Amino acid sequence: METEKRTQKSAEQTVTRDLSEQIKEVTKESHVRAENTELMLSFQRGQVTLPQYKLLLCSLYEIYRALEEEMDRNSNHPAVAPIYFPAELARIKSIEKDLEYFYGPDWREKIVVPAATQRYSHRLRQIGKENPEFLVAHAYTRYLGDLSGGQVLGRIAQKSMGLKSGEGLSFFAFPGVSSPNLFKQLYRSRMNSVELTAEERNGVLEEAVRAFEFNIQVFDGLQKMLSVAGNEQRQSSTDSKAVHGKTLQ
Ligand code: HEM
Repeated sequence: METEKRTQKSAEQTVTRDLSEQIKEVTKESHVRAENTELMLSFQRGQVTLPQYKLLLCSLYEIYRALEEEMDRNSNHPAVAPIYFPAELARIKSIEKDLEYFYGPDWREKIVVPAATQRYSHRLRQIGKENPEFLVAHAYTRYLGDLSGGQVLGRIAQKSMGLKSGEGLSFFAFPGVSSPNLFKQLYRSRMNSVELTAEERNGVLEEAVRAFEFNIQVFDGLQKMLSVAGNEQRQSSTDSKAVHGKTLQ
């Protein structure tokens, strides 16, 4: 009897629980995995390098371009309008500034986009067209992450790479958000005001897990790219030493 009551209660709670709580819960394990990717560990250990950060910025450019273009296009959609905060959150101009700082004025011709990043931005464009209500899952994953751990990562990145105050670090700065914690509260309450059918809500929760997965794949792809480039560089310097060795003998 007691057990029956408890089961009934938890079923009711599941139905009425806020989207912001549910989304945090279903992505908890993915968050731990994202934090433990090699790239994020380099950040946390204060060992992030310029090549890592530059490649990350290239991918972030592609990701936010797709996310923000789709959010803009769907800004009147009932599931997007409540969480549409371009003045406070939009990242694309900041990322462009950082890319110009590191790559120079012709940065557009120099940026490198790995396959995993292409897949992520393709998915964003697809849901923008087919299921705009899923955009909330992606906006949550990126923007609330940037306003949480991202704030600490920005300070660490500055120290690790010895950058002058804010130079090349616009991505981490949210001048339109005076208190990240208060803003996150507002954002969560807006997420909770979005009206979704049970099916749509499940779709959003699944999409949030997928959004974390896309990020993990992007980070892993970047690391692989860097380790291949590093190996090639080491190989070519060994080859040139061997040649020098021969010449000297
Ligand atoms: C929240 C740390 C990477 C997405 C948080 C919070 C911390 C944190 C401390 C606040 C938790 C709370 O308020 O209860 C970190 C660290 C990371 C990292 C140290 C890596 C070094 C990521 C990544 C993503 C992400 C890669 C996604 C791409 C989020 C989201 C939240 C969050 C969406 C908001 C959770 C919520 O309140 O619902 N993170 N994070 N984080 N993080 Fe991360």
